[in-house]
Amino acid sequence: MSKNKVALIFGITGQDGSYLSEYLLKKNYIVHGVIRRSSSFNTGRIDHIYQDPHKKKRNLILHYGDITDSISVSSLIKKILPHEIYNLAAQSHVAVSFEVPEYTANADAIGTLRILEAIRFHKLQSRTRFYQAGTSEMYGKVKETPQNEYTSFYPRSPYGVAKVYAHWITVNYREAYKIFACNGILFNHESPRRGGTFVTKKIVNGLCRIKKGLQKTLYLGNLEAKRDWGHAKDYAVAMWKILQKREPDDFVIATGVQLTVKEFVNLVLKELKIDYLWKGKGLSSRCFIKGTKNKIISIDKNYFRPLEVDTLLGNSKKARRELKWKPKYNVKSMIKEMVYEELNSLKDDKKN
Ligand code: NAP
Ligand code: GDD
Repeated sequence: MSKNKVALIFGITGQDGSYLSEYLLKKNYIVHGVIRRSSSFNTGRIDHIYQDPHKKKRNLILHYGDITDSISVSSLIKKILPHEIYNLAAQSHVAVSFEVPEYTANADAIGTLRILEAIRFHKLQSRTRFYQAGTSEMYGKVKETPQNEYTSFYPRSPYGVAKVYAHWITVNYREAYKIFACNGILFNHESPRRGGTFVTKKIVNGLCRIKKGLQKTLYLGNLEAKRDWGHAKDYAVAMWKILQKREPDDFVIATGVQLTVKEFVNLVLKELKIDYLWKGKGLSSRCFIKGTKNKIISIDKNYFRPLEVDTLLGNSKKARRELKWKPKYNVKSMIKEMVYEELNSLKDDKKN
């Protein structure tokens, strides 16, 4: 019998799944990951750690599965008998959740229940620890600032509502069945691996393309929303630390620093050494290259949501005290890395 710990990650192909698997592999875990069948390759973020299935000894093993399919979830858990399960799988885009609310509820809410039920059904309570990817979106129309583990939830999107169900079903299974089940309530976290339709990656990609003369204008939505942005690599460490506690518990993970979307844009412009000038307000906000008529940012009202979460700011004192967790990045060093990687990938694109 191998002495290595065994982890199972739902959502391994996503931003967080890729950083978490790298981290667990460095800690000598055997990592199992669930991937979905897709008409095009969806493993780009984990290709660099992929291991040939014909190799005799592997510590990264991928399985087809889907969080909306109870039997696939249950049979994978029974076959793998993991020590730790990380549920990162979700339809994770807030705006898209207004377009596909039913699927979002199925994947993000009931998906969590499916995993917990499989742990209970297969009587794995004494073996398997469970991490649920909770979110600051649950605070929605915030009841207090900053938000901590005791702040009430008031979700503002089908995504946020589904995640509130996932949060409470995790608490419920912990209390009812003594499952070591924990919620990480993570505030926004970004990286060069962030999906292209989330605002930070969209801004970095658009402005890098403008800098390189590949694009003229970047269209954005609400510039006034405030977020607490951290780096996904730091947040993956927190996920692991949460599952190493003596007792299961819930933790807010955040930087405690807040910026508006517009302030984020300005930092990226500075990093790219683009001299800029904003004109107008609200829907008529626009940004020019200073001293020219080159409009590089315009507002498209289609990027506004039916409801907005205006402000999110986390208080992660509990995690800092009890988990000894502390982020290594700040928003400026994160932007530096995102811009550097984006410019490099644009160079590669040009070659192809
Ligand atoms: P992401 O990049 O969108 O990754 C989501 C992952 O879930 C992908 O691997 C995706 O697979 C998978 N997935 C989606 N639907 C699935 C299904 N039906 N069955 C199986 N897998 C499915 O998201 P992320 O930024 O890494 O976030 C990870 C988790 O943390 C999510 O649950 C998200 O809601 C939560 N969260 C994120 C943040 C943040 O700021 N990033 C903050 C708080 C909480 P494909 O690659 O095939 O699409
Ligand atoms: N996506 C997007 N695109 N957002 C825009 C745009 C745009 O063109 N313009 C302005 N925004 C604003 C959104 O209205 C929102 O207020 C803010 O930028 C951040 O949007 P996203 O990057 O899409 O992230 P999010 O805060 O809605 O959700 C992310 O963080 C949550 C944690 O609070 C996602 O990662 C969720 O999965 C996560 O739970």
